[in-house]
Amino acid sequence: MIGSLDKRLLSCAEYVRAGAVFADIGTDHGYLPIFLLKSGRIVRAYLSDVNEGPLAASKRNVESEGLIDRCEFLLIDGARALAGKGITDYAICGMGGELIARIIEDAPHLKDEAVRLILQPMTKQEHLREYLISSGFSILDERYSYDSGKYYLAVLTEYSGVSGLLTSEELELGPELPHDGDRAEYLGFLLGKRRAAEKAYRGKIDGGHSADAEMERLRIIDKRIAKLQGE
Ligand SMILES: C[S@@+](CC[C@H](N)C(=O)[O-])C[C@H]1O[C@@H](n2cnc3c(N)ncnc32)[C@H](O)[C@@H]1O
Repeated sequence: MIGSLDKRLLSCAEYVRAGAVFADIGTDHGYLPIFLLKSGRIVRAYLSDVNEGPLAASKRNVESEGLIDRCEFLLIDGARALAGKGITDYAICGMGGELIARIIEDAPHLKDEAVRLILQPMTKQEHLREYLISSGFSILDERYSYDSGKYYLAVLTEYSGVSGLLTSEELELGPELPHDGDRAEYLGFLLGKRRAAEKAYRGKIDGGHSADAEMERLRIIDKRIAKLQGE
């Protein structure tokens, strides 16, 4: 429904700063900016998409909500053409982690300490984390949501100019951050990872192969679960 959000997009909306000049890259239906405008969190929004159909859909939805005067629509690839507009908070949501990383890399103005990026990768989360950390971005927060049988990750990041490294554990399971607001969802995500790791372990054992790597993976996931549960 227009004007309300599912849990995935709600977890992204909560990262947008009050009073932000906001852009939604790959807006599609436009639900995120519509929600932010209606809730009063932002006053103006840029809605962009590389495809005409989705951009037209977002325009129809914005019009039907009476918000057209507060929105600008751009048929563009990525975020490069949005430089110089004073945009403070960008959302790039509902795309693969590799595409999100490519969009950031193609828009040098996003490497600005005053700019916040709200990212919601549907796949290749580890690739996106690796790109961010090795390109001078800091991961400020991560949040998991659960909707219609799936876990979704939202990442809040900004440029710091300091490149770092994440371990393979951190790339896959995320840096160790507080999960106060999303403890149940993060636990569900970890348990899903554990089930997959256990299946891989059993497969190796049943096939008579060495399962050292799978055992180590299980140990790492269990350590995260134990930490989350405060044991
Ligand atoms: C699955 S939809 C996600 C819509 C919305 N952001 C969400 O999370 O619900 C992905 C949208 O990104 C757009 N898109 C894909 N590649 C893009 C690019 N390089 N630049 C801008 N938009 C892009 C697609 O046309 C599509 O509308």
